[in-house]
Amino acid sequence: MNIILFGPPGSGKGTQAVNICENLRVPHLSTGDMLREAVASGSDIGKKAKEIMENGGLVSDEIVLSIVKQRLASKDCESGFILDGFPRTINQAKGLDSLLEESQKIEYVLRIKVDEEDIIKRLIDRGRSDDKPEIIKNRFKSYNSQTQPLIPFYEEREILFNINGMQEIEKVFEDIKKVIGI
Ligand code: AP5
Repeated sequence: MNIILFGPPGSGKGTQAVNICENLRVPHLSTGDMLREAVASGSDIGKKAKEIMENGGLVSDEIVLSIVKQRLASKDCESGFILDGFPRTINQAKGLDSLLEESQKIEYVLRIKVDEEDIIKRLIDRGRSDDKPEIIKNRFKSYNSQTQPLIPFYEEREILFNINGMQEIEKVFEDIKKVIGI
């Protein structure tokens, strides 16, 4: 199964991706994790991404598409994959379309819906280096201006499903399982 997990910062994309991947035994492709690894390794991509991530902006489509392209070509993605935090712009979504083979078509875009105010508290409690109030605000700004337009993009294809992310983690996963039929 090929799934996109979609939602604002802190909506639970990573948490639910782990649950789904364990259940379906497919790889978890998180662009946030890939970029953090690049930053930690000090690679060229990491150097370019570091400051943008520290400010809560979006890393360039070119960089993100290049790392996703490489990852999707791996053998373990042949039986399916869960994309977490990608695509985040219309350009990335179109880029993804052109990367996918016919057998890799996206079947579900799971949009985890949450209330922004409650999520800010969730993130501050977690305390990742980009979980500071000012940066969280910028991450939401990036989401609202550049990522939200993907909702009608995938709605038109009739593959977007809304999930209530303001419930306990287990209950959110139950709802996801119902949608994807596992
Ligand atoms: P990324 O790492 O993807 O960050 P994000 O989208 O801001 O999302 P988070 O990881 O904060 O939240 P999440 O939705 O995964 O929630 P989680 O499960 O962790 O990206 C980081 C940065 O990288 C971006 O800002 C950008 O700069 C760059 N980047 C990444 N992808 C990019 C792309 N495609 N294009 C350009 N730039 C890109 O949960 C959050 C917390 O809440 C956890 O503590 C968790 O335990 C808790 N929690 C989860 N679910 C629940 C629940 N139901 N109830 C209570 N607590 C919950």
